[in-house]
Formats: sequence, structure tokens, C-alpha cells
Amino acid sequence: MERTFIMIKPDGVQRNLVGEIIKRFEQKGFTLAGLKLMQVSRELAEKHYDVHKERPFFNSLVEFIVSSPVVAMVWQGEGVVASARKLIGATDPLAAEPGTIRGDFGIEIGRNIIHGSDAIETAQREISLWFSEEEICSWENSM
Ligand code: CMP
Repeated sequence: MERTFIMIKPDGVQRNLVGEIIKRFEQKGFTLAGLKLMQVSRELAEKHYDVHKERPFFNSLVEFIVSSPVVAMVWQGEGVVASARKLIGATDPLAAEPGTIRGDFGIEIGRNIIHGSDAIETAQREISLWFSEEEICSWENSM
């Protein structure tokens, strides 16, 4: 079953958007396979955003991610990687369509509420970076 990694960033948690975001994934029909609130280490944040390490915003991005707790999740379902990206919307909340999470709740690229894996291979890498095998439930939703 296809899986993706979703992180509600410190701004999403502090703005009490956790329930709203989980609701959107549930209503779409995806199945929750892993969930934890965590204070992220600098090492994990740097590894997660390794692909951006030469970008000018890298340090401020890492500082932000470690600044207060995030909610890390694994969602599963057919086509979940691409579909989650649609639910989330464009990276820049000002460019994100209304109806998407970023389009409905954000205006700043550095405070864009949520992260979702951009491809199936990235999802596999990110899930194994953030979750141990025991923290993920392998189950099928029959509803
Ligand atoms: P995310 O989907 O988590 O992937 C990379 C993140 O880098 C992105 O969301 C933004 O939060 C952040 N980002 C991208 N561009 C900028 C920018 N110009 N300034 C600050 N942060 C950025």
C-alpha cells in the first residue's frame, strides 16, 4: 500500500490546526498508519531537509522546525503521495489554491504549516527517517 510522510510544522501545531488537518486527510479517505507529537532534534531536521542545504533559507528553516513540537504522520492509500500534495497546495501559501491547507490557512512561505513528501521514493526515505518499524501500524481499513 502506498504511504506518504506528512509533518505538521510548529506553526500548524501552535495555531491549533492539527485536528483540522487530520480531518481533511480522513475525509479524503486516507488511512492513518503512524502519528506522533515530537520535539525535533537539529540532526533530524538537517537530515530531513538535506536536499535544501545549499539554499539561503536552510538555516532559518531548520531553526524553525526545531523551535517547538511538530506532528509527524504516515498516511496510506492509493495514490496518497500525489493526492496529499494536492490537499496541501503549493509551497508558497499565497500561490496555493483556496480549498488547500496552505491556501486556506497561510500567507508566508517560511510558515507554510505542513510538509508532505514530493514523490514515492522521497516518502520511503522520509518515513524511515522519522519512524521506526514498530511505530507504524500495518493495517487495512475495511470501511
Ligand atoms: P516544505 O514543503 O517543508 O519543503 C521545503 C521548505 O522550505 C518549504 O516547505 C518551505 O517551508 C521552505 N522554504 C521554501 N522556500 C523558502 C523561502 N524562500 N524562504 C523560507 N523558507 C522556504
